[in-house]
This record gives sequence, structure tokens and C-alpha cells, in this order.
Amino acid sequence: MAEQPTSPMLLPLADGIVPQEVVARTEKRWLTAMTVVLILMMVVVVLTSTVGALHPASNVEVIQPLTLHLGGEFAESNLGTAIEPDGSATVRLIAEQYDFVPHCVQVPVQTPVKFRLTSADVVHGFLLPNTNVNTMVVPGFVAEVRTQFRQVGEYNMPCHEFCGLGHHGMWTHVIVVDRDVFAGLGPFERTRCGHK
Ligand code: CUA
Repeated sequence: MAEQPTSPMLLPLADGIVPQEVVARTEKRWLTAMTVVLILMMVVVVLTSTVGALHPASNVEVIQPLTLHLGGEFAESNLGTAIEPDGSATVRLIAEQYDFVPHCVQVPVQTPVKFRLTSADVVHGFLLPNTNVNTMVVPGFVAEVRTQFRQVGEYNMPCHEFCGLGHHGMWTHVIVVDRDVFAGLGPFERTRCGHK
């Protein structure tokens, strides 16, 4: 019978224990795989942001937040939904603690809609669930997002950027109506949703 080595380092490994060299080799392979994945992800981010024109703010258009109400595009009379000469709709909104002004807007269905928003105070968010509309509204800048509603209905419009103690209550609606119904609305009704 062969003599058993006395040092534990020289004992054969028990079943189920992987030798150190195998562990090191496996770790190296995973490290390489992870590095490749990381580089791939960085390439995707850079490519989509340059080629796909993905950028944080919808565009860089500056505006003076302290004088919004005094005149210009975001004066009170310009807020709400307006129909452009080409038939598309432009919705202008101001986000402020803790509401959107106007509080609710109506837009026509199957029509290109352009939302233009700015903030009167802090950073807010503008999100229409189940659409491509999702942007930050930063004071000093105009956020612009384009969409088209396929179906008539009511869309919730929450602020999704923490903007203060009343943030959780800062949400309202966009009501999408038939084009005929919209055409029959007066300018006052377009910026208000009656029961809302
Ligand atoms: Cu406005 Cu959160």
C-alpha cells in the first residue's frame, strides 16, 4: 500500500473541487467575454447617439424662464393646442411646480402632433405612457417631441422627474379626440378638458 502524504497540500483534491489552474483559466475567459461585451455596449451607445441622433434634450433651444409669461411663444394666449397651416398640431405647455399649464389639452387623432414644453422653475419630466413621448423639461430650454396618436382616448401625463414635495401630484391628461370633434372645438375648449 502506497504511503499517504502527510502535508494537506499534497493530498489529492476531493471530488467536486476544481483545480486552481482550471479556475484561473475560466475566470480569464469570463473576463475577456465581459470586456468584449462592455466594448460592444460602448460602441452601440456611441453609434446610436451619433448616427441615430439620440440625445438627452430634444433640441438645444434656449429660452428665458423668468419672462415666459410676459410675451413670446409661451405667453398664456399661445398655450394649448394650435393647428398649423399644414394641418399638424402644435401643443405648447409650461411645466411648473406642481402642474402643467394648461392643465389638460385636447388633440386630434391621426394627426402629427408636436409638443413644445418649457419649465418656469425646476426640472420636470413629461411622459405619455404607451407613446414615444418621454422628455425632461429643463428651465432655460425648450423641449420638443413629435408623435401621432392612432387611437381616440385619454392619456395620462405624469411628471416623472422629482421636482419637489408636490411631485407625486403633478400629473394630468391629454385627450385625443376625432378630427371632426376637434375641428368643432373653440380655442378655449382645446386648452381645457371640461370635467378635468
Ligand atoms: Cu414636476 Cu415632478
